[in-house]
Amino acid sequence: MQRLTRIADLRQWLAHARSQGKTIALVPTMGALHTGHMALVENARRHCDLVVMSVFVNPRQFGPNEDFDAYPRDLDADCALAQAHGVDAVFAPSTEEMYPHAAGPLIIAGRQANMLCGASRPGHFDGVLQVVCKLFNLVQPDRAFFGQKDAQQVAIIQTFVRDYNLPLEICVIPVVREDDGLAKSSRNVYLNAEERAHAPAIHAALQLCRERLQAGFGPDAALHAARAHIAGIPDSRIDYLELLAWPDLLALGDDESSCIALAAVYVGRTRLIDNITFQR
Ligand code: PAF
Repeated sequence: MQRLTRIADLRQWLAHARSQGKTIALVPTMGALHTGHMALVENARRHCDLVVMSVFVNPRQFGPNEDFDAYPRDLDADCALAQAHGVDAVFAPSTEEMYPHAAGPLIIAGRQANMLCGASRPGHFDGVLQVVCKLFNLVQPDRAFFGQKDAQQVAIIQTFVRDYNLPLEICVIPVVREDDGLAKSSRNVYLNAEERAHAPAIHAALQLCRERLQAGFGPDAALHAARAHIAGIPDSRIDYLELLAWPDLLALGDDESSCIALAAVYVGRTRLIDNITFQR
């Protein structure tokens, strides 16, 4: 597996791969790799000849009071895991390599970015689009792989790719779950034993929401049931719990058939997100 830190070296490696007619998959990450990332890699390997994984903790998607400095970084461990799962090249640039100019042109993510996770993280999705756009330009992948767990991020990236006619396919991989339904996340390790035991109730609440909607209840009644279920988690607080049209993230109309139920819930001090998509 190649370990690349310079854009020039990445380009050279890609030029060689393309000269051999290989198709390229991109798996963008911020490192701290876990089994959810490996599901992206496994899918990427199935669909393309070569897999490039980026490992870059992108400062532009962190707010001033967020945990950029504390974000876990262990490039050696990430590379070992990536290699064991068949990644062909890891691209792990420095901040200076990615952003040589302090204030470059900005990309504004727009309506879909100002709600849900974006409501408490202003500018976060602008920063995500900036780095993703750069990575798409640098790697020029045939396909890029993202996890459905970050549903809002997926919707925003899909809109961007569609609106700007970017020549790649966005592949979305379903949420990877523990046996009890808890969505896998690097944050799950922050949960103590009691919090961990109660955390699957978030997924159960989303399922309850779906069941109620499919049984003919209105969105408010479905959300009410889900809220009551989450209230059973000790020391929990709902940041948001929403039922929306998927993938537009617009309010659910009477005739909308493709839906998403999404939640962000603090369990103790740990903020967990989850979602399910379904047909009404
Ligand atoms: O989902 C993530 O890990 C990040 O937002 C991404 C897409 C790698 C951009 O930094």
